[in-house]
Amino acid sequence: MDNQIHPILSGRRTLVVGIANEHSIAYGCAKAFRTAGSELAVTWLNDKARPHVEPLAMELGAAITAPLDVSVPGQLEAVFELINARWGRLDNLIHSIAFAPKEDLQGGLLDCSAEGFAKAMDVSCHSFIRMARLAAPLMTDGGSMFAMSYFGAERVVPNYNVMGPVKAALEASCRYLAYELGPARIRVHAISPGPLQTRAASGLKDFELMLNEAARKAPLGELVDVMDVGFACAYLASDYAGRITGGTVYIDGGANVVA
Ligand SMILES: NC(=O)c1ccc[n+]([C@@H]2O[C@H](COP(=O)([O-])OP(=O)(O)OC[C@H]3O[C@@H](n4cnc5c(N)ncnc54)[C@H](O)[C@@H]3O)[C@@H](O)[C@H]2O)c1
Repeated sequence: MDNQIHPILSGRRTLVVGIANEHSIAYGCAKAFRTAGSELAVTWLNDKARPHVEPLAMELGAAITAPLDVSVPGQLEAVFELINARWGRLDNLIHSIAFAPKEDLQGGLLDCSAEGFAKAMDVSCHSFIRMARLAAPLMTDGGSMFAMSYFGAERVVPNYNVMGPVKAALEASCRYLAYELGPARIRVHAISPGPLQTRAASGLKDFELMLNEAARKAPLGELVDVMDVGFACAYLASDYAGRITGGTVYIDGGANVVA
């Protein structure tokens, strides 16, 4: 399919945050954006993650690479300074990161600690707002921003626990950022993929059950993969989707419409 994709993002520049390995949703996005012609900037979490991410960044021909832990003061600013120095502008931002301390993630919401809640909210939601604030001035010709959500934002999904309210806040943040950035022709999308077997997902209790349920419910009858998510985002970043913003876009084989 790759050689049939038109270079609808050629000349565009995209920052992808959240690649841990080739199973990451962020990797699917990076690969799809590259296939559609975009240049890439890719980050890794820390020195431990670097050997897993750097080869993928090389394979994708990423023009800019850098470390980024959004909890480390100054690292996010440094990434945007690097992008400004090298590119002078940015067209697309993909935020594909989430975190909650294990004990808070695996316990019910009633038992979630204040610290765990704050940490999950900071890494998984407020970091997107911080990124948007730094990215917007570089999007001088408009642009698009993506944040990965999940159906547990909207309905109760057993075992999703604290991430439900956190993703609800993320989706609401996308709506407000779309409102505030619309005049600058910057579009903001919450993307809601169906469950995928990734490192982050392995932290959820009984994740296998979520996978089985998603495949059973989906009208299309099968699970999605990271390239499904990537190509849908690439379309949304293109001029073909130039008047779509603020919504939550489901990439789940239709599972969200089935009771
Ligand atoms: N896998 C699923 O079933 C699924 C479904 C819907 C949405 N999502 C969302 O997709 C996004 C990507 O997750 P994934 O499933 O690809 O898993 P993943 O483990 O491949 O990616 C999660 C990424 O978050 C990064 N991260 C964690 N803490 C960070 C920090 N402090 N600073 C910077 N980066 C940090 C990790 O380094 C990793 O690259 C998450 O927002 C997740 O909630 C996942």
